[in-house]
Amino acid sequence: MNHFENIQAQLRSHPRKWLVTGCAGFIGSNLLETLLKLDQEVVGLDNFATGYQRNLDEVRGLVSAKQWAGFRFIKGDIRDIDACRNAVEGVDHVLHQAALGSVPRSLADPITSNEANVTGFLNMLVASKDAKVKSFVYAASSSTYGDHPGLPKVEDRIGKPLSPYAVTKYVNELYAQVFARSYDFKTIGLRYFNVFGKRQDPDGAYAAVIPKWISAMLDDRSITINGDGTTSRDFCYVENAVQANLLAAMAQEESRNEVYNVAVGDNTSLNQLFRYLKEILSANGFDFNKEPVYGDFRRGDVMHSQADIGKATRNLGYAPQFRIYAGLEAAMPWYIEHSKSRQDKSDELSQRNETSATMDM
Ligand SMILES: NC(=O)c1ccc[n+]([C@@H]2O[C@H](COP(=O)([O-])OP(=O)(O)OC[C@H]3O[C@@H](n4cnc5c(N)ncnc54)[C@H](O)[C@@H]3O)[C@@H](O)[C@H]2O)c1
Repeated sequence: MNHFENIQAQLRSHPRKWLVTGCAGFIGSNLLETLLKLDQEVVGLDNFATGYQRNLDEVRGLVSAKQWAGFRFIKGDIRDIDACRNAVEGVDHVLHQAALGSVPRSLADPITSNEANVTGFLNMLVASKDAKVKSFVYAASSSTYGDHPGLPKVEDRIGKPLSPYAVTKYVNELYAQVFARSYDFKTIGLRYFNVFGKRQDPDGAYAAVIPKWISAMLDDRSITINGDGTTSRDFCYVENAVQANLLAAMAQEESRNEVYNVAVGDNTSLNQLFRYLKEILSANGFDFNKEPVYGDFRRGDVMHSQADIGKATRNLGYAPQFRIYAGLEAAMPWYIEHSKSRQDKSDELSQRNETSATMDM
């Protein structure tokens, strides 16, 4: 049995009570699914700013009725300290995911990003410390590396932030350190690197590259690559991030009050990503034949990102099970299904519109 299997067995035999903030979002709903499948009790807190009821409904369909009965959802906002205090009551482990993601969103509206990501984070820290939870793990970000040119990225070498979003995520880390020093409340920050997988939102102005491209390719729309396509990332399949969260929640005292890179240690350019997606779609019966359109580089984006995952491997026993290609293969059926159901919904809608138009005449 490897370390992660051991931790899962431990959780199954001694179930705990968890709080997942942002549980209606992409990573949060994947955490929720795994925890319920391990027969844990879970409280979820979300205000549906960027998350969806449909993500919770989908998880409900993937777990047993008994497991679903272990879930209590609170519609609430982490900017409200009372909502945080209420959610964290009696909880053993907090997995704090709620935040407003996206660099461009934070450039367009830094105040709202700051309120959710900094004030909301501080509220969750205070509420969790006061409730004396056993562990607090939070979603940090690779954007904290900012303009540091070094590759691969090592946790203690960071540069200056390149966006308001990056500032908010760095401030989380600073508060976390101060809470360890001032109140002996030791947390773990997981610096996610471009996480992808099922239930990542393909729609909207701030959609991440993988779901956005898959959705465009399935609809036979053209793809725009920001820059010349050599921009590269360490894309991380969501199951790896779920693993890191569970390991961090159960980590030994000496591995706390730290931040850890959560990725694979690979480096994939946007041009490569485009080819992988084309290939995997083709294997699933969808041929995409449009050449990508090259646009301007995006403000606030770093050119290259690749993680050194040595620290998480050594201290947490983290061993990512999916490299990018396997993750894309695993995620693709969900996107195909999701795109079909979106298509069905829009067909249904246009049929209804046609029907009502006919009736109006
Ligand atoms: N997806 C990535 O690649 C990535 C990379 C680095 C860091 N992160 C961080 O991981 C976390 C989860 O990201 P995600 O990709 O699942 O995004 P997501 O947008 O799908 O999920 C975030 C969830 O938080 C909720 N939320 C936002 N503001 C809230 C508020 N004020 N009160 C209560 N709930 C609120 C949203 O409704 C949503 O359900 C975020 O903290 C994000 O910054 C993600």
